[in-house]
Amino acid sequence: MKNVDYSKMINVTNDRYRLKFHIAPPFGWMNDPNGLVFFKGYYHVFYQYYPYDSSWGPMHWGHCRSKDLIHWEQLPIALVPGNKEDKDGCFSGSAIVKNDKLYLIYTGHHYYARKDPDHFWQNQNIAYSEDGVHFVKYKGNPVIATPPKDNTQHFRDPKIWKENEYYYVILGSQNNDGVGRVITYRSKNLVNWEYLGVITQSKSPNKQGFMWECPDLFKLNGKSILLFSPQGIQKVDKKYLNLYQTGYFVGNMDYQNNQFSHDKFKELDHGHDFYATQTMESPDGRRIVIGWMDMWENDMPEKKDGWAGALTIPRELTLKNNHLYMTPVRELKNLRNKTLIDKQINIHSTTLKIPDPQHLELDLQASLNHWGGNKFVFMLQKSNQEILSLTFNNRNKELTLFREGKDPYRYGTISSSNKLKLQIFIDTSSIEIFVNNGETVFSERYYAEGKSNITLESDKGLLCNVRAYSVGH
Ligand code: FRU
Repeated sequence: MKNVDYSKMINVTNDRYRLKFHIAPPFGWMNDPNGLVFFKGYYHVFYQYYPYDSSWGPMHWGHCRSKDLIHWEQLPIALVPGNKEDKDGCFSGSAIVKNDKLYLIYTGHHYYARKDPDHFWQNQNIAYSEDGVHFVKYKGNPVIATPPKDNTQHFRDPKIWKENEYYYVILGSQNNDGVGRVITYRSKNLVNWEYLGVITQSKSPNKQGFMWECPDLFKLNGKSILLFSPQGIQKVDKKYLNLYQTGYFVGNMDYQNNQFSHDKFKELDHGHDFYATQTMESPDGRRIVIGWMDMWENDMPEKKDGWAGALTIPRELTLKNNHLYMTPVRELKNLRNKTLIDKQINIHSTTLKIPDPQHLELDLQASLNHWGGNKFVFMLQKSNQEILSLTFNNRNKELTLFREGKDPYRYGTISSSNKLKLQIFIDTSSIEIFVNNGETVFSERYYAEGKSNITLESDKGLLCNVRAYSVGH
């Protein structure tokens, strides 16, 4: 593997937007989370990484690990591109443990000519490690050299798992008619892969996407979930408002016939900044998901400071009534430093007394039974100007998220409920809002320097249990 050139790495020049308890690059650019796995006592998270600039460049795999999902230790860069199998980038992929070794499977990216970024080809490769820190690329790479005949050059993001005696990988791909799809391969030894075919594909480029990135297939409550990031879905009313989406199908995977039957596509998160998720199973059987907390082509003001990108907090996925709920993993409770507020407040317009609202967990719970009001607002302000807010409309159970700047609104709903529960994590330049135990979630980056405050408002007095904790290391 090529060496990294430490002398050329970019420096962080200002830490005004640096997050304290999220995974973010020490410097340089980050996008997708990769290779989520538990190995020899540590959770490992790799990520798409470019250490020489705060913009995307030839992809490396950055690497960090944690014993508890909340304290993350940065490790040396795991994969450096430049070998013949991955000349222009080590794109997204996943990890699996076999015989006490950690294996990575990832996409090699290749340009025909540097000047033409749309003219490329992709293959699949593996690398392995005994200690989970130092990785060696397999000498026989690529392990999957070319896409199936009816595929375009879009052929990437292998996610690996084991089912009975086979290893499977699912890949994001595009067929020659220009629609997104997922295809599978199987292997007994991680090296020789047999192509099985298409398990499901987009109905049309505009309705379900022209390319499906970062697919992931796993089981919850006996159902199979296909989680993926389609590109090209056109917005419909208040849905699919981001450049690209991340969402899922609930269904059944028929391994015998290599077919995935499913219901309709649903977005997993309703915020501006959520993409390219990956999941893993924790040792105690929880399905944990992490996403890239940004979106392609969004402004990322931290670029000026020598870095860009962050991942969401780890979240547990559960399935209820064919709907995926996302809740912060329970380990996040150990991040609470100090209880700042723990009382019942009758909300009309209340500014919370919190010394540092930008490093905070805020839990709000209200019964809607005897309220008689219609509107409840959570608001983050700076010098009386709204930076970000979430408005709940009790009549139609709709949530409207506002973020200052262009394209400010995002929407979600909750099913009829006599309770409103918001669990909110704020970390310098990010805010994640979990509504009613993760039925609806908003993930957002925001950029405000200096002192902000939090205000709660209601059009009619609403009795609310308010708990606030300072969080961080
Ligand atoms: C998703 C993605 C993947 C690709 C990677 C490249 O955000 O486009 O499909 O492997 O990013 O960095």
